[in-house]
Amino acid sequence: PAERTLVLIKPDALRRGLLGEIIGRFERKGLTIESLVVRTMDAALADAHYAEHVDKAFYPPLKTFMTGGPLAALILSGDSAIEVVRSIVGATDGRKAAAGTIRGDLSLSNRENLVHASDSPDSAKREIALWFPEL
Ligand code: CMP
Repeated sequence: PAERTLVLIKPDALRRGLLGEIIGRFERKGLTIESLVVRTMDAALADAHYAEHVDKAFYPPLKTFMTGGPLAALILSGDSAIEVVRSIVGATDGRKAAAGTIRGDLSLSNRENLVHASDSPDSAKREIALWFPEL
């Protein structure tokens, strides 16, 4: 069934000039871009978005990275969009992600891994409300 998911195209992607390359992969798959905004995450939004990670050792450098420059936030929709987007994005660690995925083809890092994508219907709902409260 059609569903919506939240994607962040992270600051490393914009810094590296990969925004079009990454959006193009989602478009070519057939997903629909419902909303798209470029903005810089502030500390409060980072803590809310990554609430499940704020106590982890990797969070402080993740927060510095994610708030360090503009990113793109998108709502993508389509049949099984949450699972489809996760499979296009690939495993968290770019060094281990499969070739053919965004991270597998374009990232060598476990932190600067180009994309965030909601991992479940509950997180999609929560993250869409955080990033697009007007919807
Ligand atoms: P993301 O899908 O945005 O969800 C949490 C993020 O934390 C993840 O992508 C990575 O950017 C980062 N991350 C997860 N695990 C690690 C780790 N072990 N070391 C560094 N960064 C990590």
